[in-house]
Amino acid sequence: MSEADYKNIKIEREDGVTYLVLNRPEKRNAMSPALHYEMEDAMLALANDPETKVLVLTGAGDAWSAGQDIKLYFRETAGNPAERKRSNAASHHWRWELLNEFPRPTIAMVNGYCFGGAFTQLCAVDFVVTAEDAVYGLSEVNWGIIPGGIVSWNLAEMMLPRHALYYAATGEPFDGKRAVEVGLANIAVPAEELKSATDALARKLMKINPAVLTGTKEALRAVKGMTVNQARDYLRAKQDSVASRDKEIKDRKGMSEFLDEKSYRPGLGPYARETG
Ligand code: ACO
Repeated sequence: MSEADYKNIKIEREDGVTYLVLNRPEKRNAMSPALHYEMEDAMLALANDPETKVLVLTGAGDAWSAGQDIKLYFRETAGNPAERKRSNAASHHWRWELLNEFPRPTIAMVNGYCFGGAFTQLCAVDFVVTAEDAVYGLSEVNWGIIPGGIVSWNLAEMMLPRHALYYAATGEPFDGKRAVEVGLANIAVPAEELKSATDALARKLMKINPAVLTGTKEALRAVKGMTVNQARDYLRAKQDSVASRDKEIKDRKGMSEFLDEKSYRPGLGPYARETG
């Protein structure tokens, strides 16, 4: 599949920032099997795309994503177990595995509705910038289902526990400001500032040495299930592994610029990188 073949998503590139856009605005970017197949294809390609320094996941129109497409993903695959299995695998693959393990920083730019199954990709990304008036909802209970797939697991990992149960049990919608308070989002801004706030975060991340950034996000995820001694051992090995892949780190560029050249203050910002 090439980018030109996509009918349910689109890709836009802006100086190192790749916007991956769910593009079914008339269906509030509900996720159909066809959309899942295209997203899986796109994510696999973008993971190896040198032009993608930061990946931004967003939605066309009024919605970020209204969750799984009730008609195409659930009803129309009910009598077709092979298609159900295939679309379920693709859905999990891109929304959790590929996004969670994406080699570059990932940002959700939440422009509107975010419901149900969309919480999985919301929790898989590294950072979330949201419009203050975006509407979030764990509407599963309203359908008579529990937050399935891995959504309940996502909530337990990402949200403050009392709030996770409250919103999962009541299905009550909440806005972008509340998403920050409960631990789902980093920054909430007025809708008209959403793009510039996302872009500013992307540019900030692009100034950090990418090997350190990737190593940092991998480390924070990996240590979660470890004992303190395991984490200490793992982090020591991880730092060596990061340094072995990057000359600037190996040469301790930051340390020499601070101590010898006195050319910058590491507490206040990153050193100037030699390569982009
Ligand atoms: N699945 C299938 N179609 C959907 C979905 C969805 N999750 N969400 C919206 N649509 C469709 C509607 O059926 C409608 O299609 P139509 O024009 O052919 O009738 C179109 O998108 C527009 O939807 P409206 O309801 O007319 O749009 P509105 O802006 O008034 O409301 C809202 C948007 C609040 C998102 C509403 O559509 C809604 O409640 N959708 C369901 C959200 C939800 O509960 N998602 C969780 C699904 S369960 C899961 O993900 C596991």
